[in-house]
Amino acid sequence: MQILHVEGLTKYFGGLAAVSGVDFTVEEGEILGLIGPNGAGKTTLFNLISGTLVPNAGKVLFKGEKISGLKPYVICRKGLVRTFQSCKIFPEMSVFQNVLLGALFGAPENIAWKQAADVAEEAIAFVGLSAFHDLPAGSLTLVNQKRVEVARALATEPELLMLDEMMAGLNPTEVGEAMELVKRIRDRGITIIMIEHVMKAIMNICGRIIVLDHGKKIAEGTPEEISTSKTVIEIYLGE
Ligand SMILES: Nc1ncnc2c1ncn2[C@@H]1O[C@H](COP(=O)(O)OP(=O)(O)O)[C@@H](O)[C@H]1O
Ligand SMILES: [Mg+2]
Repeated sequence: MQILHVEGLTKYFGGLAAVSGVDFTVEEGEILGLIGPNGAGKTTLFNLISGTLVPNAGKVLFKGEKISGLKPYVICRKGLVRTFQSCKIFPEMSVFQNVLLGALFGAPENIAWKQAADVAEEAIAFVGLSAFHDLPAGSLTLVNQKRVEVARALATEPELLMLDEMMAGLNPTEVGEAMELVKRIRDRGITIIMIEHVMKAIMNICGRIIVLDHGKKIAEGTPEEISTSKTVIEIYLGE
């Protein structure tokens, strides 16, 4: 079943078409990779889907319902959530408080405090941060701060999770752990779109990949098709 449908999505910044006529669909349960050079429009596409930006043209359907034009918190409560390329945690608040925010404000209905706390605890354990539960989130290493963001997103109980360069700046061991985490999230039944430059991760865990360049979708296919596409090699992957 289709969980997301994006049609003719377009966003201008002044004269620059950051995203231009982009069409694609996402099937429930898949891990979709989104790649392309810096400035290709990947983050802008996430901003358009999550409601942070309003498109100049085109539309986004989530579970068959038009969501473009809705506020981010409304879209989040419908079950579509994202993380940020540059971590947007609250550094002075504890790991638990950061994740509790997700559970309290991202839940579809009014959630009781105790229930929100349980959801937050579960998400913290799931990403492997129980040992850091009471520490200020800002005192954690980069990889753990990224896990706080993922836990906060999971605490909103999403059906579709969009990860923006979750693996940037991580060492090879941490990348391996992050890949496992993404697969475990998918195994919970959550559909994933991930923007990533770490090709090993993209090629290993994505069932399908979309390539953006200058705001346009230039290719779409399996990892095998993308890694052997002449266009993609020329524009992005290199020899
Ligand atoms: N808020 C903004 N205002 C003006 N230009 C922007 C804004 N956000 C992004 N851009 C521009 O849009 C283009 C796409 O950016 P972005 O979506 O961040 O690319 P990517 O995530 O693929 O690196 C870039 O040229 C960038 O400078
Ligand atoms: Mg980006």
